[in-house]
Amino acid sequence: MTALSPSAAVAVIGAGTMGAGIVQVAATAGHRVYLFDTSEEAIDKGLAQIEIFLERSVAKGRIDDDECRAILDRIHRCNKLSDLAPAKLVIEAIVENIDIKRSVFSDLEDILSEDAILASNTSSISITEIAAKLKRPERVVGMHFFNPAPIMKLVEIIHGLATDSQVAETAYDTAEKWGKKVVHAKSTPGFIVNRVARPFYSEALRILQEGGADIPTIDSCIREAGGFRMGPFELMDLIGNDVNFSVTKSVYDAYYQDPRYRPNLIQQEQVAAGRLGRKSGQGYYDYCEGAAKPEAITADAAPAPSEITVIGVNPLLAPLIELASEAGMTINEKVIDENDEIEIFIEGMCGFKIDNFYLLLSEGDTATEKTDFLGKPTINFDLALDYKAAARIAIAKGDQVSKDDLLKAVGFFQALDKKVSVIDDCPGLIVMRIVSMLSNEGSDAVYQGVTSPEGIDIAMENGVNYPRGPMRWAQDIGLDHIETVLCNLQNFYGEDRYRSSPLIKRAVYAGKTII
Ligand code: NAI
Repeated sequence: MTALSPSAAVAVIGAGTMGAGIVQVAATAGHRVYLFDTSEEAIDKGLAQIEIFLERSVAKGRIDDDECRAILDRIHRCNKLSDLAPAKLVIEAIVENIDIKRSVFSDLEDILSEDAILASNTSSISITEIAAKLKRPERVVGMHFFNPAPIMKLVEIIHGLATDSQVAETAYDTAEKWGKKVVHAKSTPGFIVNRVARPFYSEALRILQEGGADIPTIDSCIREAGGFRMGPFELMDLIGNDVNFSVTKSVYDAYYQDPRYRPNLIQQEQVAAGRLGRKSGQGYYDYCEGAAKPEAITADAAPAPSEITVIGVNPLLAPLIELASEAGMTINEKVIDENDEIEIFIEGMCGFKIDNFYLLLSEGDTATEKTDFLGKPTINFDLALDYKAAARIAIAKGDQVSKDDLLKAVGFFQALDKKVSVIDDCPGLIVMRIVSMLSNEGSDAVYQGVTSPEGIDIAMENGVNYPRGPMRWAQDIGLDHIETVLCNLQNFYGEDRYRSSPLIKRAVYAGKTII
């Protein structure tokens, strides 16, 4: 264990949103903390923010008055950079500007002791570049906290090209000792979370742009079927559309316009209109007092089928079969029969046959295409994190499919106590498409050596509170299924954006797991 001893002093530069939060974390862990900012007013505000936070903890019984006072007593405001000389770890959280950061780090080199670590909380600047012109670039590391730092569990430890592995280990162990979930990551654009999360927003925007579903329906499906705490549009409104758009643009440019990260015109228009989200009172939703939140499209009650036939073998279907049985339906466990029409089913296709139509788990193609391919009416249904707990399911019918068949599919899920959102026939529907693309992005980050599969899951579960890490989730869905979804999306759109990660392809060929 190489964590910094609590007797070692820590310094934080920048008393804004992030700096103040990091000061609180380090002081709570027992360190003497020096806080410097070029603005006296910012220090006043930062310290006031810490006091409010700690008082709330006292009110909630998490700490007592004495502890609160002791934490505040450990924080020392500084008027000049040279006051930070005793610190063994300096965390910079100033304005996101490479020249200003470089100049501060260069000044620090002459102030701090030889063994001090220089960390940056930057979310988008290369750690390699910050360190490049210093006398000792090997002691520079990224410590990327998430907002609000005292609450969000994740810290990404970013390795620049020159970062000494012992320096990174000390940063890692120290953050872990501070109660954080910590992951190592190579200095690459977006690091882990800001890269792997891009499809959460960008695929939702594309589904909206193509008329697949409206905003409240996409958000509700992501929450009520996907198990995420917030839908993409709700989250973009919380983050701020300007901030979210600028992260997307910076990742897109940093990867030399890889179509995976292409920003969306809908978001550009929101920003241009000043519809920044909660902070401006209007974003994808209206936050003015008294404004009603629009509701997801939900189908009216329809009669349930009395009998279903199970198609394909997929453990994902088990809870649906159980619920259908509890709802009194007759379940024919037919699977694949040599002499039956069902034999045309290729491996991996799964779902139900109801009367004369198929109700299939989305494979990333449209139900229209599937209807044509199978020569039978087909309706696709969406992925759920847990089909038992899911309160809503999205379904989409092929253009050739009758309304009567659609009503039977609606009635099937309603009998299982689900609300049903009938959406347009967009490939991959909502949850399946977004989760497949998140897993794909995580897999590519692993393939490119940014972090480990476990690192991806820890980062996404703790940095953005995903209900399940995308690597584990892909494994649970079945890697071959994810690969099929991605291939179908790529075929449908003819876009490189949906190319599947070599990590997934190799694992499917080899019959191996990715986590
Ligand atoms: P902020 O704007 O709230 O605070 C920045 C502070 O730095 C200001 O108080 C400013 O007076 C001070 N400052 C500017 N130049 C300085 C200098 N040369 N020396 C000392 N102090 C100086 O910014 P925020 O949001 O706290 O971000 C800070 C850093 O953390 C940025 O690098 C940002 O990318 C990163 N970050 C931000 C997150 C967020 O959600 N806001 C999340 C994770 C990282």
